[in-house]
Amino acid sequence: MRIDILTLFPQMFNSLNFSVLKKAQDNKILNINLINIRDFSKDIHKKCDDYPYGGGAGMVMMAQPIYDAFKSINSTNCKVIFASPRGKVFTQQMAKELAKEEHLIFLCGHYEGVDERAIELLCAEEVSIGDYVLTGGELPAMVMIDSIARNIKGVICEQSLKEESFSNGLLEYPQYTRPEIFEGKKVPEILLSGHHKNIELWRQEQSKKITKKNRPDLY
Ligand code: ADE
Repeated sequence: MRIDILTLFPQMFNSLNFSVLKKAQDNKILNINLINIRDFSKDIHKKCDDYPYGGGAGMVMMAQPIYDAFKSINSTNCKVIFASPRGKVFTQQMAKELAKEEHLIFLCGHYEGVDERAIELLCAEEVSIGDYVLTGGELPAMVMIDSIARNIKGVICEQSLKEESFSNGLLEYPQYTRPEIFEGKKVPEILLSGHHKNIELWRQEQSKKITKKNRPDLY
């Protein structure tokens, strides 16, 4: 999958170059390309924002640098996502669907907002990562990219995807590793039994219990 990111702060995306996402890029499963919107400003001071028409607090990102940055991308089959608290809320299901795309473009807003015409011209779909407001779209874009990338075939082991939270509508069961006793706390006996059927049943029970307690809306 190719991912282009339109942002005023490309350095923020350095954190995509670690762990699973780094490996996916090294293995050529994922190709992440950063585009600095400021490079497309026609202003001598490279200004990319201005006061809002109609008044109000803060600055608005101008349409021109965003549109020109977008046009510099050569693609016929791409989906554009605008990270915005105004968008529909991102879910695991969306991550799975978007993982099937060939080319995604993320537009990251900053300051008070983005000129509406840029959003319209890019035919961008507005997506939020939750009901809270962040200072910009960079962190939300990284959250979505991480979640989408791990659903692309070959990025992580398929069994892990099957067993994790949300995969069967429930949250994940508790996990343990060595040592058997830590600070006086013992690993549940059933997990040491080697009885696969009983272990599966115990895990299902635990998943239900955790979902009921933490997310009754999912149960
Ligand atoms: N930009 C600012 N807040 C956001 C949010 N909650 N989701 C997506 N983009 C955002």
